[in-house]
Amino acid sequence: MNVIICADAKAVGKEAYKVVRDRIVNGHAKVLGLPTGSSPIPLYKEMAAGYKRGEIDFSDVHTFNLDEYLGLPVEHPQSYRNFMNTNLFDHINLKEENINFLNGMTDDIAGECASYEEKMEELGGIKLQIVGIGRDGHIGFNEPGTPLYGRTGCVTLDTPTIEDNKRFFASAAEVPRWALSMGVGTILDTNEVLMVADGPNKADAIAGMLEGPITGMNTASALQLHPNVTVVIDEAAAAKLTRKAYYKKTSTNNVADMLAYLTAARKKTGLE
Ligand code: F6R
Repeated sequence: MNVIICADAKAVGKEAYKVVRDRIVNGHAKVLGLPTGSSPIPLYKEMAAGYKRGEIDFSDVHTFNLDEYLGLPVEHPQSYRNFMNTNLFDHINLKEENINFLNGMTDDIAGECASYEEKMEELGGIKLQIVGIGRDGHIGFNEPGTPLYGRTGCVTLDTPTIEDNKRFFASAAEVPRWALSMGVGTILDTNEVLMVADGPNKADAIAGMLEGPITGMNTASALQLHPNVTVVIDEAAAAKLTRKAYYKKTSTNNVADMLAYLTAARKKTGLE
């Protein structure tokens, strides 16, 4: 995994934006997977600003959100669809028909989840999946104890997640108990993953994900099996990592340095 450690949440947004802009501008990521929550907000602000500056065009981009609460209609202020409208969709030129969202009010949960996966497949799969991480290590709403091969389905929210998310509701009792979510297997099938996280309450989850064993107790740790993951975090979220110096070395690797090194090595061995 490519781990980039930034000073603060704002810098995380700026650094992550460079990845998103590059993949969209170069045509590698016309199908994007998106998260909600506090972590992607600085990135979404950068994406909106980048669109305004004319750097990035979303007119042929398709999106799939990771999850939606069960039992909240789109119009509910805390529905994830409403969150996305407010924080991103209303500020960029994404076409309404290119926005894919799980319907939390469906009366056919299994059918809704299966057709979400089918739609992803029809579009050739998600090229860049952006994710946050819960303080218990969840990605999407895949709580500790969730199978690492799961597909999109209905998941039960655990107490820490309900506690964390109650800040958006009148009380913890108002937070939905279930959500529809892409599975860890669905996320592992995407071409590339970009994680954003900040703050001290993510430090344990980040350390478990990057340096712990691959385990269903930290579903983000399954990303160790994914060949193309960039993790952009701030110093506070990186506080419990033991290999920061190594991550710094790998994240600043570049092809020009490697080529210069090769040229020098060839000279040394008399090949050049
Ligand atoms: C949201 C999602 C969750 C969040 C996670 C962190 O769509 O899939 O996994 O990314 O709960 O939330 P924040 O960023 O609010 O700390």
